[in-house]
Amino acid sequence: MHRDPLIQIDIISIFPQYLAPLSLSLVGKAQDDGLMRIGVHDLREAATDRHRTVDDQPYGGGPGMVMTPEPWGRTLDSVLTEDSLLIIPTPSGQRFDQRVATEWSQRKHLVFACGRYEGIDTRVSDYYRERVEVAEVCIGDYVLSGGESAALVMVEAITRLLPGVVGNVQSIVDDSFADGPMESLLEGPVFTRPANWRGLGVPEILLSGDHGKIQAWRLEQAQRRTAFMRPDLAPGGTPESGAVAH
Ligand code: ADE
Repeated sequence: MHRDPLIQIDIISIFPQYLAPLSLSLVGKAQDDGLMRIGVHDLREAATDRHRTVDDQPYGGGPGMVMTPEPWGRTLDSVLTEDSLLIIPTPSGQRFDQRVATEWSQRKHLVFACGRYEGIDTRVSDYYRERVEVAEVCIGDYVLSGGESAALVMVEAITRLLPGVVGNVQSIVDDSFADGPMESLLEGPVFTRPANWRGLGVPEILLSGDHGKIQAWRLEQAQRRTAFMRPDLAPGGTPESGAVAH
């Protein structure tokens, strides 16, 4: 099947091998199917010295090293176009969430600049912000050793929203954090065969065939789970007293 890819994603890193999992699973298949294209670029190829240096000591002192702007400039100049979105994963960025994933899944070109060490010289984001849209984003309140694993997380969250990547559209609608009937609720418990496993059964209602009742039950379970696990997401919610089903 030949078609124009829906999205082009370029990822720049000093560890291109870190991005190898992108050839697996749904993301790998979507590339094979021509739905998206992913290019991985080795930042060190833009270094000019014998040691392929990409970092230096921070001005003003302090621990660790900072990535120098020159290799970033050379690489980004060759990858960016005027309608690219340049994404810089960093613990000091704005929070990445499902809403951001949905927005970015509609873009034509995403470029991830994966920093290591103490980060990339700030002039890189300052310079490119004058030329393209730039987003500095954090995937959660913890510190990773580099942007690569954050880029993997974001690429998966974004690309599974593209039509044709996930087989069953309903599974996207029902996801926790998705904008469907279960908007802002965590997914409730799920069951499959066997009906009895190590003495544990399946809620009767799921075997009843009454889809209206099943829907209502799932909604209630989702509400309970959200109130318990994530009271910050629950409408009006502190955790309910009493047991949560699962
Ligand atoms: N780089 C290091 N930690 C990060 C985080 N939490 N999110 C995004 N990029 C990061």
